[in-house]
Amino acid sequence: MKVAITGASGFIGSSLGRALGPAGYDVVPVVRRRPGPGEIGWDPLSGDIDPDGLAGVDAVIHLAAENVATWRWNDPHKRRILDSRVTGTRTLATALARLPRPPGVLVSASAIAFYGDRGAAWLTEASGAGSGFGAEVCQAWEAATEAARSAGIRVVHLRTGIVLDRRGGALRRLLPVFRFGLGGRYGSGTQYMSWISLDDELRAIRFVLGTDGVSGPVNLTAPEPVTNAAFTAALAGVLRRPAVLGAPAGLLRVMLGREMADELLLTSQRVRPEVLLDHGFAFRHPGLDAGLAAALAPAA
Ligand SMILES: NC(=O)c1ccc[n+]([C@@H]2O[C@H](COP(=O)([O-])OP(=O)(O)OC[C@H]3O[C@@H](n4cnc5c(N)ncnc54)[C@H](OP(=O)(O)O)[C@@H]3O)[C@@H](O)[C@H]2O)c1
Repeated sequence: MKVAITGASGFIGSSLGRALGPAGYDVVPVVRRRPGPGEIGWDPLSGDIDPDGLAGVDAVIHLAAENVATWRWNDPHKRRILDSRVTGTRTLATALARLPRPPGVLVSASAIAFYGDRGAAWLTEASGAGSGFGAEVCQAWEAATEAARSAGIRVVHLRTGIVLDRRGGALRRLLPVFRFGLGGRYGSGTQYMSWISLDDELRAIRFVLGTDGVSGPVNLTAPEPVTNAAFTAALAGVLRRPAVLGAPAGLLRVMLGREMADELLLTSQRVRPEVLLDHGFAFRHPGLDAGLAAALAPAA
């Protein structure tokens, strides 16, 4: 199977590329820089993408997007977060729909931010969208695949939770703080964190890629979400460090701005991966202790 991947240089995409190659997939990165041999060039914002490169591709995994955590959420950054997702996805979906032989499946990134801040209520793929910037971006991001769906391509939206691995994402930022014994809960700590080990994230992406009956939104989260207080205690426990300090909500809002603090650190999403479980996907790390052990293990 020939699989094109956008965002292949990122935290998830680079590990995915390394996993798919040895599993027999022919991986073709879709890159924003000048493409090398075996790569496809694109410019997500201008709508430019090499149609000859896409011809003959059996599947596309679309991960490219501006990172939400690297800058404060000022207006220019919020615009980049939105445009990279919506315009980039529309560019790709339109190009795929126009191909004489479109790929069978488009697996397109989304996020559990779709659900907004929902307290302790269990959320499944059938739950409605929430409110806030992240929820609005995710709705527009998923809708931007419409051209591909209308052309008969199977479209899967990866509603991914917090991906845990020491080499990237949230955990990489948290680890130095916790290792110095400066870790602690965010705000009240009662907010739910729906996490997934990087290993299960990659396995789930391969699972939806190869399972014809799966389309539409799919929650990529472990079946056992935890509160921020429980996550803090578990991480401190594995690292054998104290985690008593904690960051009050007010301090986080001063440091990051209210919207970013509220939507990235203080928001509560208790998500159940119903579609994956209903289709028989077996999580290797359903609980946080196993998830953290895998996330912190040295590379094999
Ligand atoms: N990591 C998580 O916990 C998490 C959680 C929920 C959802 N997601 C979503 O999953 C996807 C992959 O996440 P990740 O953690 O691997 O992201 P990442 O490390 O930030 O990588 C994303 C990749 O997208 C491309 N990119 C960066 N800025 C861009 C822009 N302005 N416009 C277009 N492309 C841009 C880059 O690849 P090139 O330079 O090769 O183009 C980059 O390597 C993203 O869509 C993310 O929103 C991730």
